[in-house]
Amino acid sequence: MDIRKVAVIGCGMVGSTTAFALMESGLFTDMLLIDVNRDRAVGEAMDLSHCLPFTRPVEIRAGDYKDISDCGIIIITAGVGQKQGETRMDCIHNNVKVFKSIVPQIVKYNTDAFILVVSNPVDVLSYVTYKLSGLPAQKVFGSGTVLDSARLKFLVGRRLNVDPRSVHAFVIGEHGDSELAVWSSANVSGIELDKYCAHCGYVSHAENRKKLADDVKNSAYEIIARKGATYYGIAAATTRICESIVRDEHSIMPVSTLVNGHYGLNDVYISVPSLIGAHGVEDIIDIHLSPEEADALIDSAATLKHAIKEIGM
Ligand SMILES: NC(=O)c1ccc[n+]([C@@H]2O[C@H](COP(=O)([O-])OP(=O)(O)OC[C@H]3O[C@@H](n4cnc5c(N)ncnc54)[C@H](O)[C@@H]3O)[C@@H](O)[C@H]2O)c1
Repeated sequence: MDIRKVAVIGCGMVGSTTAFALMESGLFTDMLLIDVNRDRAVGEAMDLSHCLPFTRPVEIRAGDYKDISDCGIIIITAGVGQKQGETRMDCIHNNVKVFKSIVPQIVKYNTDAFILVVSNPVDVLSYVTYKLSGLPAQKVFGSGTVLDSARLKFLVGRRLNVDPRSVHAFVIGEHGDSELAVWSSANVSGIELDKYCAHCGYVSHAENRKKLADDVKNSAYEIIARKGATYYGIAAATTRICESIVRDEHSIMPVSTLVNGHYGLNDVYISVPSLIGAHGVEDIIDIHLSPEEADALIDSAATLKHAIKEIGM
């Protein structure tokens, strides 16, 4: 297994945009593209390769599962996306079927790689991948609420006229309608969020928080209504997760991971702050939650467990 070799399975809007972001990152020496529509994968590999005179070297090619054997990271973006008016959960039956065709093929050729799930519903499909692959949970995880947290940081930063990279805040739980923003520990460069807001002249904290959290939750719906799909944000989030693995950064990000014994949860893939390094999800970090946030996380996990039960896993 070579950590500098990455595979992207599913070369639609999310897969191809992710491949572009990965290519630009310079993290990898080789990138393999796989799609049930072989022409799509070949076309994307050709188009991406034409960027190489302008970017850093990486060998990009379309291939098959047998070519996956030495990949270090395998990213799954295959399956249908939510259509206008649908929730992520509405994709569940179709995408479970897709994963039942993909995951056995992966582990037939490679049981050493990290599998990073992006397709929705990402928490359920991460659990499905963990079960079908038989790999350790540390090696199988989903992009989770890394994107939602980025959306929150962006919106808070814009509202307060501060760089979103100086905003520290997590969205945790399901990547979907039951997710929650953890306001109790949100801060701007170590300054409690409410204090920073007051400094900027904002006083209606509860009202503003609700609006911001709703805007994060509704981002995908808003974008899909306008352009049919979301892909740049998730491509950047996925690349950032890969970066933390390849460079062994130990960055803390809310990926969707198997939680057993943290936050009162058991046997569920859900997003909580996790330490990401060369060994994958190396630790789960127990951050302080208010009693309301703790309850909301348990409710979110119940939604996911219900979905898992419904698909018979
Ligand atoms: N986790 C996130 O934050 C996030 C964000 C955006 C989109 N998504 C999800 O990513 C997924 C892909 O979205 P999209 O907009 O790229 O969809 P898309 O329809 O543009 O692309 C899906 C691709 O998957 C391929 N595919 C289907 N079945 C396959 C199989 N069995 N094997 C290999 N390839 C297969 C299709 O041929 C297509 O190229 C959706 O589930 C979407 O909801 C996740």
